[in-house]
Amino acid sequence: MVDKKRFIKGIKQKHDWQLTDNQVTPESVFKDRRNIIKTLGLGAIGASLPGQVQAGIFDLFGKNETPKFLTHVLKYAQPSEFKLAQPATPKSKAIRHNNFYEFGTSKTDPYENAQGFKVNPWQLTIEGLVDNPITLDYDDLTKQFALEERTYRFRCVEAWSMVVPWVGFSLASLLKQAGIKSGATHVAFETLFDPDQMPGQKNRLLGGGIQYPYVEGLTLDEAMNPLSFLAVGLYGKTLPPQSGAPIRLVLPWKYGFKSIKSIVRIRVMDKQPPTTWNQLAPNEYGFYANVNPEVAHPRWSQATERSIGEGGLFSAQRIPTQMFNGYGEYVADLYKNLDLKTYF
Ligand code: MTE
Repeated sequence: MVDKKRFIKGIKQKHDWQLTDNQVTPESVFKDRRNIIKTLGLGAIGASLPGQVQAGIFDLFGKNETPKFLTHVLKYAQPSEFKLAQPATPKSKAIRHNNFYEFGTSKTDPYENAQGFKVNPWQLTIEGLVDNPITLDYDDLTKQFALEERTYRFRCVEAWSMVVPWVGFSLASLLKQAGIKSGATHVAFETLFDPDQMPGQKNRLLGGGIQYPYVEGLTLDEAMNPLSFLAVGLYGKTLPPQSGAPIRLVLPWKYGFKSIKSIVRIRVMDKQPPTTWNQLAPNEYGFYANVNPEVAHPRWSQATERSIGEGGLFSAQRIPTQMFNGYGEYVADLYKNLDLKTYF
């Protein structure tokens, strides 16, 4: 049952999993010369340059900095409604172990291939069955809505997990501003389609065989649930491209593939929209994709997950997976009449 009181400013109730800010792991500094060369597009040529020339390249960016996409600090209201007892995954892990097939299918491809991604100008449209269609430009994304920080558990369908402090605003606040028309039942989401910037959209092999643009969807009740979050930042700063800049969805009770990145269109509809992974392999990836330790993926169990922390994926600790990723008190009611084995 959703406890509505906990969402009213000032009357929120503390849970044992709520924590103070200083328990969130701080940003760690990333120093990797090999990646600097790759990001500069020098590849093998760069690696074979004489040491002195290489040193000159590094001096351009200072000794400890990579020439990466620039993020900036976000201002958001404190304290947050959502905190966790678990420490957050180190930032260096959360931004270097990603799934963003538009930039390649390996976990490090998005970090390595997305640093030149341009997010300004940007346009996000909210359209379809709404009273007031909205277009948000790049500045609107961080300025039109009061931002808050939420530390959520994040569980990928591949059975790894992280804990990430996101900054953003609720999806419901945006949909309410647009005004939902009667008869609406679902909400569809679409990622940018720009093959010149996204190599995976140009090259079928690099893009994992997905038919782009990447699309996702929710029922209207799911979209209006207080947990559904539009993130514009993480670890206190605007999103880097590999994490879905400039705006992405975060749905902590669902498998990570529902949390669509770099969104350009939100469409309110009167039927269930097609979704990327469901179209690709309907027997493996359902429309709902709720985290459920009792429903195995056809090729692996979902009962446990590798929690990614300091040590990386293979030294990661294996922990039990929780029903709805531990967010049942907010979302279980949405599915009380649904057979979750059939509608996985
Ligand atoms: N959104 C787009 N547009 N393209 C993608 O390939 N991958 C999804 C999701 N959103 C994906 C996407 C998957 S499978 C996961 S697990 C999460 O993004 C990963 O988010 P993260 O890289 O921030 O951990």
